Amino acid sequence: MATHEKGFFTEDDSVAVVTGRNINARDERLKQVMEVITRKLHEAVKEIEPTQDEWMQAILFLTRTGQTCNEWRQEYILLSDVLGVSMLVDAINNRKPSGASESTVLGPFHVADAPELPMGANICLDAKGEDMFIEGRILDTSGKPIADAVIDVWQANDEGFYDVQQKGIQPDFNLRGIFRTGPDGRYCFRAVKPKYYPIPDDGPVGQLLGQLGRHPYRPAHLHYIIKADGYETLTTHIFDPDDPYINSDAVFGVKESLLAKFNRMHDPARAQEYGFAGDFWDVDHDFVLARKGET
Ligand code: BEZ
Ligand code: FE
Repeated sequence: MATHEKGFFTEDDSVAVVTGRNINARDERLKQVMEVITRKLHEAVKEIEPTQDEWMQAILFLTRTGQTCNEWRQEYILLSDVLGVSMLVDAINNRKPSGASESTVLGPFHVADAPELPMGANICLDAKGEDMFIEGRILDTSGKPIADAVIDVWQANDEGFYDVQQKGIQPDFNLRGIFRTGPDGRYCFRAVKPKYYPIPDDGPVGQLLGQLGRHPYRPAHLHYIIKADGYETLTTHIFDPDDPYINSDAVFGVKESLLAKFNRMHDPARAQEYGFAGDFWDVDHDFVLARKGET
């Protein structure tokens, strides 16, 4: 009888010994997941051959990551983000039919109960930043407008912070709003041009990025969640293609199709119509939703 069949641990048989203990797992999916993770983890350890001290450093890193989590800070999701795992899970779960808008990471700063606003409203409540007018259509993959689509938008302010990061400094619900399309599928609202900002980098994930020689910045973007009956919900961003970090997003969220055009406008008549003091940014971006089950 081979050593591992007796259940004894050896370096060579480590995977078989550990996974062999899980034969009575109550959940087949859990059993499969643990089989793969054990196999890959042991493979990594065998390739790395960590010293006892290096292994302890890894344990302490994961401990600090857990200790950094609280009601509003999820350092493990941040770790998943900077390792590209969040984008990989997103890609696997959001394979879209041709022509449908692509998804990207949700991020930690969405709030569920933003106010529903009339079309055209200004979501900037702190009067900081460069005025911006954003418009577009919500369409299906055949180009037909979708009525009653609910568009939930949020962005950081001109200093690179979301309202929830600066409670008592920014007005509640600054740079957030929910809009509902009419029969023409059109949406529009006023905001300010977003800026790049760092992901929360004062914890273990920020230290890891520093040690890896990586910066913590995300290129300027606006977040969208777009929902409509009968359609797959789309969680996505639009990005400023001229941002200095557009090719090095700390969380790998940028996709070619999510680059919007930010046009600088000198148009006094439109500026007056929107209540802007002078020149402003103009963005026209359509989103295409896939029908539920459409391939
Ligand atoms: C964000 O865009 O809000 C974000 C995404 C991932 C990590 C941190 C922030
Ligand atoms: Fe963001």
